Amino acid sequence: MSAVARKVDDATREAAGDGLHAEMRGVTRVYPGGIHALAATDLRLRRGEFYSVIGPSGCGKSTLLDVLSGLSKPTGGEVLFEGRPLDGRVPEGVGVVFQEDASFAWLNVADNITFGLRRNGVDAAEIARRLDHALRLMGLVDFATAYPAQLSGGMRQRVCIARTLVMQPRMILLDEPFGALDAQTRLVMGDELLKVWRATGATVLLITHALDEAAMLSDRIGVMSARPGHIIEELETNWPRERDSRIAADPAFGAITARLWTLLREESLKTLQQSKPSQGKPS
Ligand SMILES: Nc1ncnc2c1ncn2[C@@H]1O[C@H](COP(=O)(O)OP(=O)(O)OP(=O)(O)O)[C@@H](O)[C@H]1O
Ligand SMILES: [Mg+2]
Repeated sequence: MSAVARKVDDATREAAGDGLHAEMRGVTRVYPGGIHALAATDLRLRRGEFYSVIGPSGCGKSTLLDVLSGLSKPTGGEVLFEGRPLDGRVPEGVGVVFQEDASFAWLNVADNITFGLRRNGVDAAEIARRLDHALRLMGLVDFATAYPAQLSGGMRQRVCIARTLVMQPRMILLDEPFGALDAQTRLVMGDELLKVWRATGATVLLITHALDEAAMLSDRIGVMSARPGHIIEELETNWPRERDSRIAADPAFGAITARLWTLLREESLKTLQQSKPSQGKPS
């Protein structure tokens, strides 16, 4: 075994041992044209935790998710998943769900959900088994043959989550997946996501701009600064694993939300200052 392989192997064992699932070490991202989206960002995701990221608009949240998932390369620093540095691709075991409805209009629900499995040549019996499980988990059993145009926005987003789930990811990254939904549907979807998290045991990283969503769903919440973004504070909620949106009635919920609001308000004001022409910074 080469020295490099041995080092990677040690790192994997170490990561498994201390419960670390993914890590960003001093990650920066500067876009062509010079926009500095991420300042040196450190993030350590524990195996199986539910971690949310909040931050002011345009602070680099989606950039963080893109880099952590392997969809885009950092300008500096490194990203590790299960102890291994990313190699320019989304690693096996990582699933991503985006804000926009990414369902295929010309495929029915079942075909949407199994698209990736068929492309990977998974055998038919296994596809049927995983489809059945995902339909049940996401409450879509009666809609397997429906087309996206026949579904509500919330249901289409469930299809997208189911499509990620059938790939059996060990880490699921979601970029404001409920951003386009009304408040009640968001609540329901938040509870659905908690069920998925418990049922799969996956590590979840959720990007959201809704403070209450972050406060009620997460084990930990990372608050990002104004751009160039990095995590300025992490809050631990200490919620029990068995929980749902009723946790919002817990007195601790108010305290967590208030702290998030204070931090976010400060950073959002900075963002506003950044965009004022009198600051002399071309955007
Ligand atoms: N492909 C790109 N090329 C150049 N600049 C980009 C690109 N993608 C994002 N940016 C810039 O990088 C900064 C961070 O963008 P990003 O999308 O990561 O922020 P965000 O926090 O997800 O924003 P939002 O709250 O609107 O979702 C912004 O100033 C944005 O304009
Ligand atoms: Mg974004």
